[in-house]
Amino acid sequence: MRIDKYLSNLKYGSRTEVKLLIKSGFITVNDELVKTDKFNIDPNNDIVKVKDEIVFYKETINLIVNKPRGYLSANSDNFHKTVIELLKEPYSRFDFKIAGRLDLDSSGLLILTTSGLLAHEITNPNKKVNKVYHVILKNDIESYQQLLDGIIIKDGKNNDYLAKANKIDIIGSKELEITIDEGKFHQVRRMFQAINNEVLELKRIKVGKLSLNDLKEGTYQEFERSDLFD
Ligand code: URA
Repeated sequence: MRIDKYLSNLKYGSRTEVKLLIKSGFITVNDELVKTDKFNIDPNNDIVKVKDEIVFYKETINLIVNKPRGYLSANSDNFHKTVIELLKEPYSRFDFKIAGRLDLDSSGLLILTTSGLLAHEITNPNKKVNKVYHVILKNDIESYQQLLDGIIIKDGKNNDYLAKANKIDIIGSKELEITIDEGKFHQVRRMFQAINNEVLELKRIKVGKLSLNDLKEGTYQEFERSDLFD
């Protein structure tokens, strides 16, 4: 890959700004000064330095984020803080895909990945990846069998959709964990609305094999594909 493309992809500046960095003698590869922007590097093996600092690079990065309420699952937004704004250097230099959004008012496990393939594997409905949500309801739970049998809700396009829970674990009179392998717009909230209840708090705690565990709210850590899938 050309050094100027590599560095501008990593947000060290526009192609023109990176060319200026090169001209000014700020870039080395394996401790050799780079003199031309046409210089090619092997991003996985070469050690690139900008102003004497090593550039962090990985072909694929997967992050598990503990999203706080009030953060939008989007790359940018004019009104709300976004989950991408939680990222610090060096992760803030990469372009992430959000693999399965959470509502503004929901919290918990959100997956960011630079791999389009992994994002697809997580969100493709045919893959049936289980997601576990911890839910606090407004009213006492009376019957929830309908959610396991299947219940009609509206999907994001306002069409009828038969939503089905795989598992429900009751924790208290208004508290439970629900497992679904689908991901329609506002699905969990709409499923409880359909049985005349209301979700007050919604937190995703597990996706596939990957658990939030004690990851602090607003923080993140890297994971491998094998932490998620068998
Ligand atoms: N279901 C919802 O209703 N909201 C979420 O954020 C996730 C699942």
